[in-house]
Amino acid sequence: MNPIHPALAPLAQAAKRKNWSELAEALQRALKAPAWLRPEHRVGDPACYMRHVLYVDPDGDFVITAITWLPGQVSPAHGHQVWCMYGVAEGELSEEQFRPNGDIAKTSTYREGDLADRDLERTLIHRVANRGKKTVVSLHLYGVSAERLTTGINRPYSF
Ligand SMILES: [Fe+2]
Repeated sequence: MNPIHPALAPLAQAAKRKNWSELAEALQRALKAPAWLRPEHRVGDPACYMRHVLYVDPDGDFVITAITWLPGQVSPAHGHQVWCMYGVAEGELSEEQFRPNGDIAKTSTYREGDLADRDLERTLIHRVANRGKKTVVSLHLYGVSAERLTTGINRPYSF
């Protein structure tokens, strides 16, 4: 078992069992009291939003990552190849959700401690952005193995 911060252990236990309601509760607690958040998680990459791996399930079932968003950084519009759940630990994230034809279905602003809409069925298409002036740190779980972390999460979308 690789080491895990105690504040993230309940997330790993729930994700392992795919107990989504328990995972949502554990994620909410980890966002409201982010004891796991280290100073380096606030250091972004000017080239692109930056993913920090916090925990890798040894069987390859899921990963827990923090993402650092510098002001103005935006993800591409994408769907997901795997289940995912996320929320905001610091700052404020904007999200646009799309219909398959590219129409905007929903816009949201997630603040510190907020859970975002989850994508368990791999049906969500969204774009996530830091449109504020502060660095944002978000916490994400993905049902992907560490080996497939780079290419196995997002399903790029062009409308
Ligand atoms: Fe996503």
